[in-house]
Amino acid sequence: MQNFVLHNQTKIIFGADRLQEIGSEAKVLGARALLVYGRQSIRQNGILTAVTASLQSCSVAIIHHGGVQSNPLLSHVRQGIAKAKEEQVDMVIAVGGGSVIDSAKAIAAGALVDHDVWKFFNGKKSIKQCLPLACVLTLAAAGSEMNGGMVITHDDRKVKFGTGNRLLNPVVSILDPTLTYTVPPDYTAYGAADAIAHILEFYFTTADASTPVQDRFMEGLVINIMESCDKVLHDPCHYQGRADLMWCATLALNGWTAAGLGLVGFPMHMIEHTLSAHHDIAHGAGLSVVMPAWLAHQAERAPHKFAQFGRRVFQVEQKECRAAARAGIARLQEWLRGAGCPTSLAELGIAPETIPFLAEQSLPLAKLWRLKEYDQEKIETILRSCL
Ligand code: NZQ
Ligand code: ZN
Repeated sequence: MQNFVLHNQTKIIFGADRLQEIGSEAKVLGARALLVYGRQSIRQNGILTAVTASLQSCSVAIIHHGGVQSNPLLSHVRQGIAKAKEEQVDMVIAVGGGSVIDSAKAIAAGALVDHDVWKFFNGKKSIKQCLPLACVLTLAAAGSEMNGGMVITHDDRKVKFGTGNRLLNPVVSILDPTLTYTVPPDYTAYGAADAIAHILEFYFTTADASTPVQDRFMEGLVINIMESCDKVLHDPCHYQGRADLMWCATLALNGWTAAGLGLVGFPMHMIEHTLSAHHDIAHGAGLSVVMPAWLAHQAERAPHKFAQFGRRVFQVEQKECRAAARAGIARLQEWLRGAGCPTSLAELGIAPETIPFLAEQSLPLAKLWRLKEYDQEKIETILRSCL
């Protein structure tokens, strides 16, 4: 167990029909809100109408900033920052999934500085203050609703960088599982894949050889994510399934699983962000392809933890360590495929001849995230194994 500080100040309001509390929660933060959301889902499913009514009933003025797309764009964030400054908003409210919440975080931080917000992402500036952020989560996946992370794509340069700061933690997030009933099967499964990847990034990159508490916690989350996703793919309005999946996805990246692991890394995400930046694929779909390949690559070098994962999560029976490791990874890939996730670059429409370029494009983020062992050759090897 390594030393750690765990300080997560986000207030979570969890449960069915909690959406209408956004008005009273926002009123505490001020009188003028920039409302950030996606393209059409919250208009179609009535969430925008309900949020607007709740804010208006609490006399919170709304400045709209819709149109966030998946793999959210820096250009759209910059427009939101200009609006937030011009309208002198007191807060930013995000209603959506990870793309919307991350955009809202970037706007909340960018609205209080004179330099370009991208300087927070390329390590040139650090975040010192942030407008208060309130979230209404509509998709179980990224975990952004309860952490200080944000990931934005630079449209011109085609790079997708992430950064983090505790100041970016939302003040309050409403997690109402009924709001996810309308999430289509593909994004439900991609969200599950993303949450599993968040867990396995920590589970397999900790250098601490003895983390029994965290291991059991993370193994349990992976099992629950798969079981609840299966329920929801069968019945999209399965409340317990949606509730369990939502809370697991939040727990996967709110700091609790990583507490005590010491230094951990995000190699799978480093590779996936390049795929999303260049091919605009769903984040979870990219991870569903990269994850088994990265696991298999690492398991050949140090099979013990991978064998533990296979035995505890999938009850594989192989006695030999490497065989058990391979069996567990195969079972995870089988589950991803069964949930409707892609498991090859070909399914993402990515051709083998682009691999050297994609590997080379991943190097700046590998450097920024201090993933020293990830050079051109290692990244190419991993990508070639998921063709
Ligand atoms: O744009 P609309 O019309 O709203 O449709 C969205 C979008 O097309 C739709 N959707 C969302 N809620 C819905 C719904 N459709 C029907 N009913 C609902 N209730 O789902 C699509 C995907 O939304 P998006 O926000 O892109 O998905 P997700 O939540 O998976 O977020 C992915 C983003 O999160 C970032 C990723 O990089 C990616 O950009 N991440 C953020 C992290 C963080 N801040 O800690 C960590 C993660 O690893 C991840 O990198
Ligand atoms: Zn992710």
